[in-house]
Amino acid sequence: MASIPDILNRQIANFSVLHVKLHHYHWYVKGASFYTLHARFEELYNEAAGYVDELAERLLALGGRPVSRMADYLKLSTVKEASGTEDADAMALAIADDFRTIAAELNEGIRAAEREGDASTADLLTGIRTSLEKHAWMLRAFTGLAGAPAAAPDARIRSV
Ligand SMILES: [Fe+2]
Repeated sequence: MASIPDILNRQIANFSVLHVKLHHYHWYVKGASFYTLHARFEELYNEAAGYVDELAERLLALGGRPVSRMADYLKLSTVKEASGTEDADAMALAIADDFRTIAAELNEGIRAAEREGDASTADLLTGIRTSLEKHAWMLRAFTGLAGAPAAAPDARIRSV
């Protein structure tokens, strides 16, 4: 089971890679949905930058050391960089998939934080997860795919 510092550092790495990836998509998206996605990717890279700082400062408050070098981000992240060949729909779907991957990881982190009685970290991760799940639904709906995820990241939702 990953420790709270490891969980926070993985997400600092993920949102740092996403910050770069979303800039790539913001700059290179083409076609009829340019204006929509160009603006949306900007909103999302700003949101990602905010999470990097919030997660890092939570880790510092816990006495930990947030990762802060590009090489470490690439080593720790589960999110992959842009391939450079995506069309507009593939960009939207790639970000939706990344958000769903991170939401599932955040769910693990929330459980770990709850087990350790760290309500503040659980609350921070829950807020991020809620936002990512909404964005993932919207991005999938934008491409015409069903908004409902194939698998809910939270087992408690599945069991209802
Ligand atoms: Fe811009």
